[in-house]
Amino acid sequence: MSIKIAPSILAADFANLQKEVEMLNASEADYIHVDIMDGVFVPNISFGFPVTEAIKRHAKKPLDVHLMIVDPDRYLEEFKKAGAEIISVHYEACVHLHRTLQHIRSLGCKAGVAVNPHTPIEHLENILEEVDMVLLMSVNPGFGGQKFIPNTISKVRRLSKMIAEKGLNTLIEIDGGVNQANAPLLVEAGANVLVAGNFVFSSENPILTIKNLKNLQ
Ligand code: DX5
Ligand code: ZN
Repeated sequence: MSIKIAPSILAADFANLQKEVEMLNASEADYIHVDIMDGVFVPNISFGFPVTEAIKRHAKKPLDVHLMIVDPDRYLEEFKKAGAEIISVHYEACVHLHRTLQHIRSLGCKAGVAVNPHTPIEHLENILEEVDMVLLMSVNPGFGGQKFIPNTISKVRRLSKMIAEKGLNTLIEIDGGVNQANAPLLVEAGANVLVAGNFVFSSENPILTIKNLKNLQ
């Protein structure tokens, strides 16, 4: 399975969103990663439905929506309507995670679980069957442009083993501080999807940066 790249639109120029989405359409990106922050679960606010819908209107790639919000159940239908193909909720934000994941799947979306850097992946042991993608945070969620936490690599390795032992094909997505230096290590440890915000959008040639990330290994 080749590695998938999910550029995070959070690092794009919001005054030129259509242009940025068209750039991603023309690139080898597999998904468009959409970061939703509520100012409660994380100490930052990003954007909501109107912006997600605007991205969707121009996007030719599936929207990979990362909900960094409390009580995500309240908004699942609306994110589906706004164009989400994958919806990830935080393990730390869901009291009834099993129910939430089933809800996401019942909407026809792929269900993801995001885990903060301090959350042991062993906590996913009894829920993996319900999950299409595990989103491992490699920074503390809330802001783009932070430094990658190296401990993530061993988490990827353990999670990848756990998924294989269960005979599942759950995707492992890494989010935060991904760059050309850590990407090969992540892929080698078993990552399938790499989110990249600043590394892509701050580069001179984002299309080439996406291509290079995808063809690293
Ligand atoms: C962080 C977000 C990330 C972020 C990634 O809270 O979930 O998706 O936008 O951006 P970079 O790649 O710049 O760390
Ligand atoms: Zn994210």
